[in-house]
Amino acid sequence: MTPVLFRGWESVEGRWPDVATVVDHVGVPHLVVTRHALVRQLLTDPATFRPDNALDAVTPIPVAALRVLAGHRFRLPPTLANNSGSSHPEIRGIVADALHPTRVAAQQPWLTDLVRRRVARLATALDAGEAVDLYAELAADLPLLVLGRLVELPDAPVGAVKDFARAALELFWAPLAEDRQLALAAEVGRFHTVLRAFAATGGGLAARLRDAGHSPDVVVGALFFLLVAGQETTSQFLTLLLHRLTGEPSVRAGLRAGEIPVADVVEEGLRMEPPIVTWRRVAAVDTTLGGTPVAAGTSIVAWLARAGRDPEVVAAPDEFRPGQRGSRRHLAFGAGAHRCVGAQLARMEASVVVAEAAPLLDGVTVVRPPWCPDNLTFRMPDAFVVRRA
Ligand code: HEM
Repeated sequence: MTPVLFRGWESVEGRWPDVATVVDHVGVPHLVVTRHALVRQLLTDPATFRPDNALDAVTPIPVAALRVLAGHRFRLPPTLANNSGSSHPEIRGIVADALHPTRVAAQQPWLTDLVRRRVARLATALDAGEAVDLYAELAADLPLLVLGRLVELPDAPVGAVKDFARAALELFWAPLAEDRQLALAAEVGRFHTVLRAFAATGGGLAARLRDAGHSPDVVVGALFFLLVAGQETTSQFLTLLLHRLTGEPSVRAGLRAGEIPVADVVEEGLRMEPPIVTWRRVAAVDTTLGGTPVAAGTSIVAWLARAGRDPEVVAAPDEFRPGQRGSRRHLAFGAGAHRCVGAQLARMEASVVVAEAAPLLDGVTVVRPPWCPDNLTFRMPDAFVVRRA
C-alpha cells in the first residue's frame, strides 16, 4: 500500500475506504482520508487537527544532513502553513495584503503580454516541425516572475530559485536515501543563507514582517514558504493542465468557440490535476474521524486529489467536464484558516495561460508526457514535450 502515499495521483481512481491506515517507507502509520466531507472536516477543525506537521520531513533527516542545515542556521519555525499559534492570523494577513486580489489583477496585462510573446515563438517552432517543452519554455518560470513583481524577493537567478524550491520539496516530502538527503540539505541550506541575509534588510513583505515585530526566523520562514509554495505549485499546475488539455480536444474546441469559460477549465483542472495531491494535519487529541478512532499525535493525510473525485460531490468524477456539477468544490487549495492565500494569484496565472496557450495544442502529439517523481505531496513534473504531427 505504501506507493499510494508517494504516487497519490496515480491511484486516485477506484474504490477506497473513507479512511485507511497506510504505513510509510520508514514504518510510520498515516491515516489517509479519502472522502470530500471528511477532508473538509479535517482541514476546518484546527483545534482537533492541527497543521503543525505540515512541513515535517516525511523521511526523517539524518544527523549528518541536519548538521549541514544547522551550518546554514536553517530553521522553519511555525509561520504560515505549519503555524497553529496566535501569530498565524497576523502573519497571514501581511502576506494576504501583498497578494491582494487588486494587486493580482494589476499583473494580468503584463503576464498576458509575456505569455502571448512566448506562445507566438513556440507556435513558430511547432510550425517548423520542432519539438517544444511546454514546461521549460512556457510554464516553469512564469509564476516566479509574477511573484517577484508582487513581493520583493532576493536578487537571485530564476534557475537558482527553482533548483532550491524543488530541492526543498524533495527533502521534505519524498522518500529518500541518506546520500540524497545530504545533497539536498546542502542545496536548501545554501539558499536559506541567501534568504536570511535578505530577510534582515529586504523591503516590501520582509520589512512589513520585521516592522510588525516578527523574529528574523519568522521572516525567513515566510519567504521560504512563499518561494516554494508560491511559484513551484503553480508552474506544476500549468504543466499538468496543458498536458490534460492536449487530450481534451472537445474542451479546446469549446474554449475556441467561447462556449466553455476559461475559468471553468481552470477549476476543473484544479479538481482533476491538483499539483498538491495531499496535505497533512496531526491529531491534537484523541478523537474520531468518519467513525474511526484517531489517537492524539496521529499523522493524517488529507488526500486532496481523491476528494476532488468524490462521487457524492461531482457528477462525473473521472471525466474532465468544465462547469459540471461539483467541479468548483474541489479542495485543491485546502480549506479553513490555512486555506491557500495565493489561490487568486494561481487562478489568474492559469487563466492567462489557458486562454493564450490552449490553441498551441491543436494538432500536436505528445513526445514526452510529464514525468513525476515519488513524492507525498507535490507532483513536480519535469518536462512536457510536444510536436506538431
Ligand atoms: C495551483 C497552485 C496552488 C495550489 C494548488 C496551492 C495549494 C495550497 C494548499 C493545499 C495549501 C494548504 C491549505 C490548508 O492547510 O488548508 C496552501 C497554503 C498556502 N499557499 Fe498555496 N497553492 C497554490 C499556489 C499558491 C501561490 C501562488 C501562493 C502565493 C504566492 C501560495 C501561498 C500559500 C500560502 C502562504 C499558504 C499557507 C496559508 C496559511 O497557512 O495561512 N500558494 N496552498
